[in-house]
Amino acid sequence: MFNTFCRRRMTESCSQKRRYVYYFSAVFILLFITPGYRCHVRKITEADLRMYRKRVVDMFNHAYEGYMKYAYPLDELRPLTCDGHDTWGKFSLTLIDSLDMLAVIGNYTEFRRVAKLILDKANFDIDINASVFETNIRVVAGLLSAHLFSKKAGMDTDPGWPCSGPLLDLAENMARRLLPAFDTPTGMPYGTINLRHGVPSGETTVTCTAGVGTFIVEFGTLSRLTGDPIFEKAAMRALSTLWKCRSDINLFGNHVDVRTGKWIALDMGIGGGVDSYLEYLVKGSIMFNSPELLSMFNECKESVEKYLKRDDWYMWGNMKKGSITLPVFTSLDSYWPGIQSLLGETEKAMKTIHNFHQVWKQFGFVPEFYNIPKADVHTNREGYPLRPELIESSMYLYQATKDPYLLQIGIDMLESIEQVTKTRCGYATVIILYQFI
Ligand SMILES: *[C@@H]1O[C@H](CO)[C@@H](O)[C@H](O)[C@H]1NC(C)=O
Ligand SMILES: *[C@@H]1O[C@H](CO)[C@@H](O)[C@H](O)[C@H]1NC(C)=O
Repeated sequence: MFNTFCRRRMTESCSQKRRYVYYFSAVFILLFITPGYRCHVRKITEADLRMYRKRVVDMFNHAYEGYMKYAYPLDELRPLTCDGHDTWGKFSLTLIDSLDMLAVIGNYTEFRRVAKLILDKANFDIDINASVFETNIRVVAGLLSAHLFSKKAGMDTDPGWPCSGPLLDLAENMARRLLPAFDTPTGMPYGTINLRHGVPSGETTVTCTAGVGTFIVEFGTLSRLTGDPIFEKAAMRALSTLWKCRSDINLFGNHVDVRTGKWIALDMGIGGGVDSYLEYLVKGSIMFNSPELLSMFNECKESVEKYLKRDDWYMWGNMKKGSITLPVFTSLDSYWPGIQSLLGETEKAMKTIHNFHQVWKQFGFVPEFYNIPKADVHTNREGYPLRPELIESSMYLYQATKDPYLLQIGIDMLESIEQVTKTRCGYATVIILYQFI
């Protein structure tokens, strides 16, 4: 029923007015499609790997200690002035975000110390308008993974662990504060919630696709650990509404009205505005062994490959016609080879990551937007705000293939982050002003 409702209400009006002529020149093909990436790989030894692993841990410690010294208990460090500020709430966000990393690098003493600090100090009953999406992926997710690491890190755990424990309680406490956002006619959540008072009056009904479809990993985990199905149901209801709102060619728009299901922005790319929706379909399907989530992803992926993919790049296109509207690679696209490799499509993933790595080498980073035909950064979107997507993709793909080319990508990223973005107290966003080649 909702399906027809949803489709009837969709209009042709699109908030994104800019249209770019798509020019696919022979020069462009020659420049970018040469499959020569194996030639440049030098031998990376076990000793090299140990050294790089240590450097990564040192980098983490530098950022972590800078945060603790200059910014805690505020949300984030300002790495140029070496002070802190609250950004997404008043959560000591960076501490919650980095807790699981302490466990990953094996610093269990510090893990236990700050887990206790968080448990002693956390109070989410605050009059703050918080992003439902960001609070879920950072706070709920950070607390859940810390909870799952807590036994390994030597914390005293209840006999009922992992189905009980103080970090799990805290994650649940926060997730319950997000639930009222899902109380809409479509089940798709509002973008913002007041942690004490619920949805703020006058809150916009328009949110991005990722803001609707990025809950199943955390909410599914919560439901399965706590035994309360409400979280998983809310996430699944939002996902199935979104699915019903897809276009006839199985593509999605960028922004949707959560009360009516009407699309507000009709352009789709795999990156910003959509990205983690597709990512969570794949990760959710693996975590919960769900053929339903996987088939949603696969149907959409077929269309993405048919309409938006050009020589292993992914463009932006119109969700109804499939026509290309903006020939750009965006930094946020970089998670894609990671999910390709999770699905076993390692050959496709290698070709895609090769393209993205070429952009990294051209500038020393990936800019927010990169115009593919022009092979240049997109004006006003030149920054690299220390995004992790390309790093994560290289990691997954390396685990799947052990191809040393991926280690080289990792080393390239490590060196530019360390050499260009490091400050006295942390790491800063860079603005790409010139090319390195
Ligand atoms: C653990 O983290 C603390 C705080 O950053 C640091 O002082 C300590 O050296 C770390 N321990 C190890 C083993 O890395
Ligand atoms: C939250 O948003 C509502 C509606 O815009 C506003 O009235 C209220 O003052 C905001 N609260 C805070 C703490 O900013």
